Amino acid sequence: MSVVAQSAPSKTFRAGAFGNARVLVCRECSHEVDLGPHYACPECFGPLEVAYDFPQVTREEIEAGPANIWRYKALLPVPSDIEQSPNMEPGFTRLLKADNLGRELGIDNLWVKDDSTNPTNSFKDRVVACALSAARELGAKVFACPSTGNLANAVAAAGARAGIKTVVFIPSNLEQPKQVNSAVFTDRLVAVNGNYDDVNKLASEIAGEEEGWAFVNVNVRPFYAEGSKTLGYEIAEQLGWRLPDQIVIPVASGSQLTKVDKSFQELIKLGLVEDKPYRVYGAQATGCSPVSVAYKGATDAIRPVKPDTIAKSLAIGNPADGIYVLDVCRRTGGAVEDISDDEVRAGIVLLARTEGIFTETAGGTTVGVLKKLVETGQLDTTLETVVINTGHGLKTLDAVSDRVSAAATIEPTYSAFTAANLV
Ligand SMILES: Cc1ncc(COP(=O)(O)O)c(C=O)c1O
Ligand SMILES: [Zn+2]
Repeated sequence: MSVVAQSAPSKTFRAGAFGNARVLVCRECSHEVDLGPHYACPECFGPLEVAYDFPQVTREEIEAGPANIWRYKALLPVPSDIEQSPNMEPGFTRLLKADNLGRELGIDNLWVKDDSTNPTNSFKDRVVACALSAARELGAKVFACPSTGNLANAVAAAGARAGIKTVVFIPSNLEQPKQVNSAVFTDRLVAVNGNYDDVNKLASEIAGEEEGWAFVNVNVRPFYAEGSKTLGYEIAEQLGWRLPDQIVIPVASGSQLTKVDKSFQELIKLGLVEDKPYRVYGAQATGCSPVSVAYKGATDAIRPVKPDTIAKSLAIGNPADGIYVLDVCRRTGGAVEDISDDEVRAGIVLLARTEGIFTETAGGTTVGVLKKLVETGQLDTTLETVVINTGHGLKTLDAVSDRVSAAATIEPTYSAFTAANLV
């Protein structure tokens, strides 16, 4: 069995290979396709996503599960014995009450969902765990991705643990720590001379040519994307089975934001949380802000851009799910906003100094946008708000290395210390 091109006939998989998933459904025309390595609708080329026949799921069953994303396995396209296969066991990261940051920004009730503590220090471990399960069930021989950095780290590590060959593709100008964080797990890190959109195009071409390759965010994208739902499930569970009023999420391809919304809708339908309004906000860096530009222009037409920002993990100039981000943010009464690279840097330092959390440029973008949403009156400061930190600052040290440094360099004597007048 192999992961093959779109047009191949559907294959049969072992019973329960995809858990309670029923079918793949087109987001544009609702056409249904059998579960398999498909990602584009054969009728209209729209993106496919996983649809389910959920059983009755209770809070108690979930709470009795492991302290990782598999506590939600009944709501994911994975087999019921998923924990038996070697994987990175991501998720169930901290939801921290951020009173200091809240006070600084004038927000009464603020939380940080800190996904930088995942096994490879970004939320990508969640999506990769679901993609790995699909790759395994589809009989893939190579586990691969085009990446802006964090995804490559997560794929390379998960592949090493699962004992499957990995090939990860990145733009060659990527931050050095992100390159090392992949190369340490795989000897097949491929640096491509081009931006992420060039790398992505190359990956699609390889996926069409080669047999047996599971590109996590290309030909198994519908399964991969479902992993981001666990962020939303966890936030609701950690708030005491309640949805927040407002949530701020970074946007690159836009997949994460749309899946957090999907998770909230599912929890409501399953009766696991009370149905209530919530607002979803998207965060971009101005140097790569095609979704924010479309939002502000009140249009659905997202014009691809050539990224030019220090927020390289968010540097996708032609976002696959951008249009659905617009849908979600408009439908829920949220917004999409963008900030300058200087504001991204300031966002990193602000989160670090107020909450002791070192975020990467994506988190700096999200915190900076949160600040701007308050300053521009787009966010209600009296409502319960969650901001997601999706990655770790140790991967993007250069972003702040000229903003923060030793306060003084002194001789090892008490008199030198007092002379420096530090406290
Ligand atoms: C740290 C971090 N945050 C957020 C994102 C955005 O994710 P998405 O492409 O699902 O919008 C990425 C994507 O690479 C990322 O690396
Ligand atoms: Zn369709």
